Amino acid sequence: MNKDFNYSNLKIGIIGGGQLGKIMSQKAKKMGFFVTILDPTPNCPAAQVSDRQIIGGFHDTHKIEQLVRESDVTTFELENVETSILKKLYDGGHNIHPSPYVLELIQDKYQQKKLLDAKGIPVPAYKKILETRDLESFGFPVIQKARRGGYDGKGVLLLKTQEDISSAIEAESFIEELVDIEKELAVIVARNIEGEISCYPVVEMLFDERVNICDSVMAPARIDSEIEKKVIEIATASIKALDGVGIFGVEMFLTKSGEILVNEIAPRPHNSGHYTVESCATSQFEQIIRAVTNLPLGSTKLLSASVMVNLLGEVGYEGEPIIEGIQEALAIPCLSFHFYGKDVTKPFRKMGHVTVLDDDITVALERAMRAKDILKIKGSIKI
Ligand SMILES: Nc1ncnc2c1ncn2[C@@H]1O[C@H](COP(=O)(O)OP(=O)(O)OP(=O)(O)O)[C@@H](O)[C@H]1O
Ligand SMILES: [Mg+2]
Repeated sequence: MNKDFNYSNLKIGIIGGGQLGKIMSQKAKKMGFFVTILDPTPNCPAAQVSDRQIIGGFHDTHKIEQLVRESDVTTFELENVETSILKKLYDGGHNIHPSPYVLELIQDKYQQKKLLDAKGIPVPAYKKILETRDLESFGFPVIQKARRGGYDGKGVLLLKTQEDISSAIEAESFIEELVDIEKELAVIVARNIEGEISCYPVVEMLFDERVNICDSVMAPARIDSEIEKKVIEIATASIKALDGVGIFGVEMFLTKSGEILVNEIAPRPHNSGHYTVESCATSQFEQIIRAVTNLPLGSTKLLSASVMVNLLGEVGYEGEPIIEGIQEALAIPCLSFHFYGKDVTKPFRKMGHVTVLDDDITVALERAMRAKDILKIKGSIKI
């Protein structure tokens, strides 16, 4: 692996061109780097702010190889990527971070859980499903998860009673005890090529009950300092266990009895870290660029408390997105508006977000919720 980058002429490749790739690219461009995006959708959000786009899917080995060969370092905004070609290129000395081996491990939620468990990281009780009968092992209710390919709550199923077995996930899966959740917490952790690790503040994720998508994020989380310390310790240990370079979103549960359990790790910038753009000295998006290009990590200091709210596509609409309420919402003090530039909206699709800063987090929360009520992402087609 070559660590001697020429920072005056650095080419970064990003696999995936959605909102995460877009903000990563903006930060890389701020630092003067040349950015190429690989994504199947022409003029995807990230391509709109990058130097170049290679149009290709995330399993298109030729296009992936082209991106890696034409970049000094390649990174990701999503984990569901073909790893066979990446492993060959990585073993051949190309800079790919996090490594395709880490990616492959994370792609299989069961293997991920097993590794964390083996390294002494607390996780919910889990069991691999080999035959239908195994679904009954923990009794009911129980959570069933597909091993691969899930995102935004897809691939996660609550089996309330034995009757629900008939509608269980058919793909390779495992079950998990249903955790009695007090709060869902997350920590963004950065690790650079030298092995330096840096954690962002612990945040609290709030969910849209209808679809189980993370809806809002409060930074910092409303937890006491003992718990905060423990969460940071567990998040750091999880990333050490993975041995990856880049940015990692560690999702955790704080249980009603005060336990902390790791749910899953995303090997890329994470929705729970959007707030860092306005709220922290270095955003998660700049941090990943620093981490994968062998630069020192920036400060993760929280400059102001904040609340981030995702702008999800309204139910009942698709087609070209239409923003409602922007005039009124942007009059809210210390509100920052992000719109990703996706060409079509769909119900619950992540179309943008707002972050509201205030030293008093309850004020930030109240203003963010007001923005959420005002801003509506509708579409040109009623469905
Ligand atoms: N063992 C569990 N007990 C209780 N609730 C759970 C459990 N596992 C998952 N959940 C709930 O389901 C949500 C989605 O689960 P998970 O994060 O594993 O799936 P995902 O599809 O990767 O979602 P995302 O992409 O939103 O992170 C969690 O945030 C949590 O609310
Ligand atoms: Mg999750």
